[in-house]
Amino acid sequence: MIKVLFVCLGNICRSPMAEGIFRDVIEKAGLEQQVMIDSAGTHGYHIGEPPDARAQSTTARHGISIADLRGRQVEAEDLKRFDYVLAMDEENLANLRRLPGSAQVRLFLEFACATSTREVPDPYYGGLGGFDRVYDLLEDAAQGLLADIRQRLTGAKPT
Ligand code: 4NP
Repeated sequence: MIKVLFVCLGNICRSPMAEGIFRDVIEKAGLEQQVMIDSAGTHGYHIGEPPDARAQSTTARHGISIADLRGRQVEAEDLKRFDYVLAMDEENLANLRRLPGSAQVRLFLEFACATSTREVPDPYYGGLGGFDRVYDLLEDAAQGLLADIRQRLTGAKPT
């Protein structure tokens, strides 16, 4: 089982969107028995809360429901359990790197191929358009991550 954790600040916008989008990609690839997916926030502001209504409506327009997800804070144990710990921006990355054993932590957009943008911008204080932009970036990186995981599963050297 390959385990993937998406991490943002609040775990109510970007990382639950990433979780829902990547779950959809993995299901369509028929790999749901081989890949486990979760998300968390570096801060505890929104523990137990569902994703932001704008995040939910954005993924819903693409046929993806994230309504059942609930916010949680990342913990040191996560770095032991997950094979991929994927941060949305440099601030999330820096916060994760303060935890022990964070060697596998990287920026999710390293897997994107249609953009050279390295960070998924925080859409919380903006309008719905920001969430569409987030969706597009996440969808791009999700395809790249799928390719990387396929390589791992077939024993080829991961990127
Ligand atoms: P996220 O967005 O990190 O993508 O979930 C945010 C959610 C909440 C806050 C900031 C960003 N906040 O300040 O409460």
